[in-house]
Amino acid sequence: MLKPTADRERIIELLEHEGGVTEASVRKVAAQTGVPEADIWGTGKFYTLINTPGTRVRVCDGLTCQMFGADELARQITESGKEVERVSCLGQCDLAVATLSEDMELVTYTKKETNISPASDDLAINLAGEVDLGYSALAKARLMGADAVIEQLKISGLQGRGGAGFPAHFKWTSLINQAETERYVVCNADEAEPGTFKDRETMLRQPHKMLEGLAIAAALIGTREIYIYIRGEYVNEVAALEVAIDEAKGQLEDFNVTIVRGHGAYICGEETALLESLEGKRGMPRLKPPFPTESGFRSKPTLIHNVETIACVPSIVHHGGQWFHDLGRTEAGSKLYCISGHVNQPGVYELPLGVTLDELVEQAGGYVGTPLAFSPGGASSGFLPISQRTLPLDYKSLAAAGSMMGSAGIVVLNDTVDMARAADWQLKFFERESCGQCAPCRIGTQFIRRQNEKYIQLGDPATFEHTEDVAWEMEEGSICGLGMIAAKPLTSAREHFPEHFKTR
Ligand SMILES: Cc1cc2nc3c(=O)[nH]c(=O)nc-3n(C[C@H](O)[C@H](O)[C@H](O)COP(=O)(O)O)c2cc1C
Ligand code: SF4
Repeated sequence: MLKPTADRERIIELLEHEGGVTEASVRKVAAQTGVPEADIWGTGKFYTLINTPGTRVRVCDGLTCQMFGADELARQITESGKEVERVSCLGQCDLAVATLSEDMELVTYTKKETNISPASDDLAINLAGEVDLGYSALAKARLMGADAVIEQLKISGLQGRGGAGFPAHFKWTSLINQAETERYVVCNADEAEPGTFKDRETMLRQPHKMLEGLAIAAALIGTREIYIYIRGEYVNEVAALEVAIDEAKGQLEDFNVTIVRGHGAYICGEETALLESLEGKRGMPRLKPPFPTESGFRSKPTLIHNVETIACVPSIVHHGGQWFHDLGRTEAGSKLYCISGHVNQPGVYELPLGVTLDELVEQAGGYVGTPLAFSPGGASSGFLPISQRTLPLDYKSLAAAGSMMGSAGIVVLNDTVDMARAADWQLKFFERESCGQCAPCRIGTQFIRRQNEKYIQLGDPATFEHTEDVAWEMEEGSICGLGMIAAKPLTSAREHFPEHFKTR
């Protein structure tokens, strides 16, 4: 029988303290927690940072890093006598090629020094600008009360910035309508989708916007408990948050803010996988419904928001919902767009929701070379042809174009890139990051990637014979969004760039 939840929740932290998953560490943690050894072993092995703790140089395999020579860099590091581990994404696409040293320190091999972040004054809309250390929006929200704040959220049109674009006010309303009074607020800072690094910038440069947003949410839904689940590779970002929490301790005294570091599993960004991980288990998505607002962390009502979503809340409370709404162009609000790849000034740009790729790239210093394609919202969004450069980068327009806004991790590819190879890099990501829980995703991600690899080796399009059927089965038969869209890099590349998939 399992020991009480609290013991179980400590498993991953205790394994980390013991230096990873070994027979001795598993035995010791089992004795400390009462959780069976096999269970601890299985949990630890799920997480790459626990399974292979900091003994190797980690070289990023994300799309942008691959475009800028990750394979060659990994070869050079290996030749220098160091052990290399290839990892899915380090969230540093603007600094590609990115690596983490054996001591988890970020080392980048970028030639660009022109990145712009949300802290730049001339780009300021709501996330940038002066930090109000008085947390006046929190005080105002308390005076207004939950109903009035939720009404402003509704007017603001704020949609979740974590990928799905779900209206924020629905979740808040659902939470306050629950009969259960033990409730939680969780911030999803697990950002690990290749192409995406906006939450990183927000935590580094505007941590108080995020903390104040979390405090407003907690105060209004009636809880002290705030959890921030942050990807394990974001060492500097954890430090920035700790400093900010200390700076705001007077304002946050009514809350228990707990930072929980992830351990190298992209799937833990999916909200229910995140909750499983918080509970000390393998990060495998749950079947929904029930949704976290009804049954979330410890089976209690839980409000989960992305970093950017929650960081918009203080400004909405301060200026009113209409103000935020009017910042957008085709949809409500401003948006943090990440841009990397073949542009002159990769970085994070805060712009009206609905700008076009051309406008974004203009901010980012222009295209490098002749643009061919772009991936508009992280690996999950597949590829679009550059002829779509004037499409509004918003939730509805991108969905209508057969893609998605996702995490707004935009990567531009110029005509030096072979789209079959670009698809291969993205397919490898999904194959590696599938949690393995459902067969269509576990088997499908391997099959699709292998067939594309065969094509790259043999140049024979017959290798794609069954890929569309398998993609359909993955979309229909997977539990979570990962499996549903994992074939998209290949299907979209073949649709828009048929000349890259002909007999070679
Ligand atoms: C495979 C997968 C990975 C995800 N990764 C993230 C992530 O890293 N960060 C995030 O905020 N949301 C991520 N999401 C979306 C979350 O499940 C959830 O919708 C989000 O945290 C809700 O917050 P929001 O309403 O503020 O967007 C992911 C979803 C899927 C299917
Ligand atoms: S779709 Fe893939 S990642 Fe999602 S639960 Fe199933 S196996 Fe896991």
